Amino acid sequence: MKKKITVVGAGKVGATTAQRLAERNYADIVLTDVIEFVAEGEALDLLEASPVVGYDVNVTGVTIKDGAGYEKIADSDVVIVTAGIARKPGMSRDDLILTNQKIVGGWAEQIAKHAPNAFVIIVTNPVDAMTQLTWHTTKFPKHRVIGLGGVLDSARYRTFIARELGVSVQNVEAYVLGAHGDQMVPLPRYTTVAGVPLPDLLPKEKIDAIVKRTRDGGAEIVNLLKTGSAFYAPSAAVAEMVDAIMFDKKKVLPCISYLEGEYGIHGVFAGVPVKLGAKGVEEIVQFKLTADELAALQKSGEAVRALNKVMGI
Ligand code: 2OP
Repeated sequence: MKKKITVVGAGKVGATTAQRLAERNYADIVLTDVIEFVAEGEALDLLEASPVVGYDVNVTGVTIKDGAGYEKIADSDVVIVTAGIARKPGMSRDDLILTNQKIVGGWAEQIAKHAPNAFVIIVTNPVDAMTQLTWHTTKFPKHRVIGLGGVLDSARYRTFIARELGVSVQNVEAYVLGAHGDQMVPLPRYTTVAGVPLPDLLPKEKIDAIVKRTRDGGAEIVNLLKTGSAFYAPSAAVAEMVDAIMFDKKKVLPCISYLEGEYGIHGVFAGVPVKLGAKGVEEIVQFKLTADELAALQKSGEAVRALNKVMGI
């Protein structure tokens, strides 16, 4: 039987994620939104692309209205939450917290009720806190609740490095850890280009500039678009995470995961390298970090803890 993936929120991130996943042809897709008929319209359009692109999965859209529609997500294998308000120029991800807490918290209750065995991937910002909220509300085991952060941030970082060095992005392997925000922790020591460590290839100032651009990567797009935030790279990053789960790849990817002492961080979600496979987060991979790198990562954990307090969880 085909798998079932629900994408919550038919904005640009949600719709593009639905498109990327439909084109992979391994799961029926349910797309939801609260704005009447938007999800239905996006889904039908995606379905009508299927004969040309060549996928056989079903894509359906659902309007969530007056408390109805949630039942359509029943027994999803994966639920991806993109619903919520996005940043406008000048806003930080944290500025979204109280509005998005209501939206994501409400969805977490519905996911627990209708899709109790699902893996949940959170995209809505501030994503570290929203992932913690989802875990707290669903009471799902920690390996099934995962946030998008590092795969996206690493993609940006890898892009900038590849462009700077004039090499294929495929030659650049990198891990950006920490919170998806100002507390992001790129690791140049663990960044390699065709196996060569980045510090051997670029001077410190250049690396620092790339790290800064990566940290500000989301805001750079928000400032250009003015009315929305990034969606091509975020949806590509989500699809990579879903692939790892669907195909039991056991791929080491930087994801927002619940930590219970790993990296000296207790009881909060933060971006760390994890082994992602059929059981979700199968292992927190422990890199050997310097004291500075570890301190930066722990600061991320504290930033998430502070946001949890704001949410009252
Ligand atoms: C980004 O970094 C939306 O937070 C997301 O673009």
